[in-house]
Amino acid sequence: MIRCDLITLFPDMVLPVLNQSILKRAQEKGMLEVRVRDLRGYTLDRHQVADDAPYGGGAGMVMKAEPLFRAVDALRREYQDSPAGTELRLLLPSPQGRPFTQRLAEDLRDERRRLVFLCGHYEGVDERVRLGLDPEEVSIGDYVLTGGELPALVMVDATARLIPGVLGDPESAQYDSFAESLLEYPHYTRPPEVRGLAVPEVLLSGNHEAIRIWRRKEALRSTYLKRPDLLKDELLNEEDKRLLDAIVREGATAHLSSGGGGGVGT
Ligand code: ADE
Repeated sequence: MIRCDLITLFPDMVLPVLNQSILKRAQEKGMLEVRVRDLRGYTLDRHQVADDAPYGGGAGMVMKAEPLFRAVDALRREYQDSPAGTELRLLLPSPQGRPFTQRLAEDLRDERRRLVFLCGHYEGVDERVRLGLDPEEVSIGDYVLTGGELPALVMVDATARLIPGVLGDPESAQYDSFAESLLEYPHYTRPPEVRGLAVPEVLLSGNHEAIRIWRRKEALRSTYLKRPDLLKDELLNEEDKRLLDAIVREGATAHLSSGGGGGVGT
């Protein structure tokens, strides 16, 4: 069970995503708990103001620090009497943060602490949130979004699908892209032909060993062609190296003309 709190000025931005598909099912099955907290509830004034103009002038608005402090205080109070496992792990989505990776998703799956996402919005968050709460800053990529809500959802999603039982097939997450630094092999489903494009024959063969080798080879090919930076020699076994040699010999486009099925086991 992973427990998260998402503190945001815009609950309606995240609730529909959390209430769909696999994330919804994970919550229904008691494997994931996500509580969405409206930051306005922690403001100090009648008008529930959570942002203000920046000191020193300039464009945009800055999220006030105090409502976020109060929201975290409230969470700490709420959870202080609950059983072990409710220490808070504060996360601040920010383009300045450490990159979010599959490895970090695996780390967030640790059940001992609640994940608390502090979602900023507008130009940024008053620096005293960083200074006073010392959250882990995490970036989902080198681009700037309007707020931390989408990054928080990305992180919840990537983490939740690693919880055993959340995906239908326990092996699904294990063979993911990045789970072992290779991109995924191509997937096909019915029918056997779509607009003249056939399913690679080996996948219809019922030969499990041939299918395993084909998939490994195509995962290596994808990685070699699209993300060669991920191909680390020390992670490749003898079979991988043989397959990779064959891929290099076949040239960059061999898999396109052969329907992706050629050269099984070579
Ligand atoms: N907030 C705005 N842009 C972001 C990004 N790229 N990653 C995480 N949080 C953000």
